[in-house]
Amino acid sequence: MNTSFIVSLDQGTTSSRALLIDHQGKIIGMEQEEFEQIYPQSGWVEHDPAVILQSQLRVFEKLIKNTKVTPDQIVAIGITNQRETTVVWDSETGKPIYNAIVWQDKRTAPFCEKLKKRGLTDYVRKNTGLVIDSYFSGTKIKWILDNIEGAQEKADKGVLRFGTIDSWLIWNLTKENVHVTDYSNASRSLLFNINTLEWDKKLLSELEIPASMLPKVFPSSSVFGMYELNGVKIPIASVLGDQQAALFGQACLKKGDAKNTYGTGCFLLMNTGKKPQFSKNGLITTIAWGVNGKVRYALEGSIFIAGAAVQWLRDELNVIESACESEKLALSLDVENPVYVVPAFAGLGAPYWDMYARGAIFGLTRDTGKAHIAKATLDSLGYQVKDILQAMQSDSGIKLKCLKVDGGAAANNYLMQFQADILNKNVIRPKSIESTALGAAYMAGITVGMWSEDDILKSRTVDKIFEPNVSKQLRNKMYAGWKKAVKRTMNWEC
Ligand code: G3P
Repeated sequence: MNTSFIVSLDQGTTSSRALLIDHQGKIIGMEQEEFEQIYPQSGWVEHDPAVILQSQLRVFEKLIKNTKVTPDQIVAIGITNQRETTVVWDSETGKPIYNAIVWQDKRTAPFCEKLKKRGLTDYVRKNTGLVIDSYFSGTKIKWILDNIEGAQEKADKGVLRFGTIDSWLIWNLTKENVHVTDYSNASRSLLFNINTLEWDKKLLSELEIPASMLPKVFPSSSVFGMYELNGVKIPIASVLGDQQAALFGQACLKKGDAKNTYGTGCFLLMNTGKKPQFSKNGLITTIAWGVNGKVRYALEGSIFIAGAAVQWLRDELNVIESACESEKLALSLDVENPVYVVPAFAGLGAPYWDMYARGAIFGLTRDTGKAHIAKATLDSLGYQVKDILQAMQSDSGIKLKCLKVDGGAAANNYLMQFQADILNKNVIRPKSIESTALGAAYMAGITVGMWSEDDILKSRTVDKIFEPNVSKQLRNKMYAGWKKAVKRTMNWEC
């Protein structure tokens, strides 16, 4: 093989992946490994940072072995990651002082209430673009400092480091233990000022987090450090939170371009251009990326449970053996489904922001079977996306003509047709639904001069367009049922 490649490391919520991408943006090889989800208590979700690191390194090694690529052919590494998940480690030993607290974890909900009572809601929104919610990293760091013996003292002495998964991986991939992150990840911390592009002193002091714990923040397209593979030094040339990477990978480079990724959760992002736009409808404002000296912002609707609901069907209810079986079951029903599943397993994100909502199934009758439950679970993904899209159109004043989709569940034809029906919009699925990994690769390619933004626009091709095919009356009836169901799950844990 006489060509150059980029390796994309995609560290997600349930699996670590490594992809080899050639100079035309074609995926040449991919390795993936799922890892353990730890649930110590109801509402708590953790990962072992060492397991994350090992799984990421293993898939990288396997990729090299199976594609027979040589280290000198790899011109850059791009990193994309599950966002917000919080690791705190000791800089002297390199060991985490606690498990990673995952973005879905709800343990800091009571502390978030205290922050709201202190009157910080408006300050947080205007300066970080976020809502006060246990989803983001800030209160997770605070929990670790308050609950792990000796942590606050060590933090005050400047020994501890905080990072999202990108920082944790780079710290370990670089021999010098570089402590860095990018704008897109920093903007999910509840501590980063998205207007000044600096850590926010007031919020650090409110949460009693010493600045010495925080990584240095760079544009997403930067050389973050070097990874040495068999004596060859390869630049880590991009870092992007996974949803921002997917936005980039879908070539949503212009103001008003939007995509939806169906992963563990579901994340609809719209590029809003050079300035942050603040939501009146429960969305958050986030940094999309920093590249070529420009910072771009996005509006985001974050849905906490999407693909995870299909996993729940498979692993907890044992209704299906594999995710694709859900499509068959859904298609086996040709009648309207009176059943609604609200998968508020981790509270509800945008646009409801209810940390105390919990999941429920509504509309059960004696003839309800597993097909109804499977179909209703898939439908819940579509309904949640409609909730977000409505809020986004109203915030941005932009009426989307179509929705670009990607992520695992975008392969599900039933779901994509339902999505088009319930939105009454065309849903566009690209040939490669690996937008996240591609986005990180494209960004790394830009850093090392292999690609330009124009090349990215040209590289995206469409697989299928799903057109809406239900009556307005039926669409409205189905969506009204969903709204009624969601309302009943709210504030459940209070
Ligand atoms: O904000 C959480 C998000 O980054 C997780 O993405 O793909 O692991 O569900 P994913």
